[in-house]
Amino acid sequence: MKEIPYFRYNYLYSEFKNELDRTFSETLGKGAILGQQELKDFERTVADFLGVKYAIGVGNGTSSLLLMTRVLGVQKGDEVIIPSHTFVATAAAVAWWGATPVLVDCGNDHLLDVDKVEAAITPKTKAIIIAQLNGRTGEMDRLQAIADKHHLVVLEDAAQAFGSKFLNRCAGTWGIMGSFSFHPAKTLGAFGDGGMIVTHDEQLAHKLFCLRDHGRDPQTNEVVAWGINSRLDNVQAAMLSVKFSHYSKTIQRRRTIMQRYCDRLAGVSEITMPPAPNANDGRHYDIAQNCEIEAEKRDELRNFLKENGIGTLLPWGGRALHQIPALQSSMHFDRHALARTELLFKRCLMLPLNTSVTDDEVDYVCDTILKFYR
Ligand SMILES: Cc1ncc(COP(=O)(O)O)c(C=O)c1O
Repeated sequence: MKEIPYFRYNYLYSEFKNELDRTFSETLGKGAILGQQELKDFERTVADFLGVKYAIGVGNGTSSLLLMTRVLGVQKGDEVIIPSHTFVATAAAVAWWGATPVLVDCGNDHLLDVDKVEAAITPKTKAIIIAQLNGRTGEMDRLQAIADKHHLVVLEDAAQAFGSKFLNRCAGTWGIMGSFSFHPAKTLGAFGDGGMIVTHDEQLAHKLFCLRDHGRDPQTNEVVAWGINSRLDNVQAAMLSVKFSHYSKTIQRRRTIMQRYCDRLAGVSEITMPPAPNANDGRHYDIAQNCEIEAEKRDELRNFLKENGIGTLLPWGGRALHQIPALQSSMHFDRHALARTELLFKRCLMLPLNTSVTDDEVDYVCDTILKFYR
């Protein structure tokens, strides 16, 4: 029997150990701890890679969401449309300012169902946040058209989609602002927490640079607003630059693994696979952050995989936002209008997908799944 954990955290380091060791000791050796050249370089790298003017490194992907909604002025009495299938942080970025998250269903691609957004718009709607999940970018042209029609802005929670594209444009760069996470399990993972906000807008960028650093203007060091301390650590930025230098290979490998899962499991009628990278419709470029399948008898399958040494994960611990009892009363939703999400959360399961996973391991996972359904 093989042992395939869902994620191998030690591999984050061993994969590029020599380069990381060198960078770590060089950066610390010269005392470049906070807000130094390594951070500025990484911010420039990210902005150029994504094709956006400004990138603001922050402490994590949650505070980047919070800062985006803060600069937008989201406040009590406002409503913000978000998918019910997203991490709790997307909703927290609305609820923390006293506003109400309004939950919308997902589509067959597991992302916000753009066709259901318009029905959720009211005179109180302030913005729409799409979560670009599993390494895929939603149909942003159609979403933006709806937002424009109603004079609303779109924000992107692109925590899971660094470098993913729709119509050749990167996730995070469609909306007025986009948010990324460098949580260790992300495709570009730090050795701790990290995040980034991107925007084309100079004024918003300036405010964000101030807010992440106690409200201090980076040029004058003068406090110009209430802020917080949420800076991306210089050392994390240096380590992320090392990992970024291998990023195209990382994504290639992830897409290859995803394709192998899709090929091997294509004939299994009890399973619905995510879109295969090679079956691209010419509009989407997915970065294979997660392999989120839908499976009949999901819980039995999960146990069978566990008995056979294979770790899997349920998205968000197995609950969509509207299924979290402690938070239900502060969100707005109609359970009947979330039917696709309800169905998804009875069936969804994430298979191991990261660069430590070998072809043999993918085959073993697939063989075990085939054995289960036979
Ligand atoms: C969709 C989504 N939004 C927000 C976050 C929050 O990011 P972080 O963990 O860096 O705060 C994550 C990941 O953890 C995520 O997957």
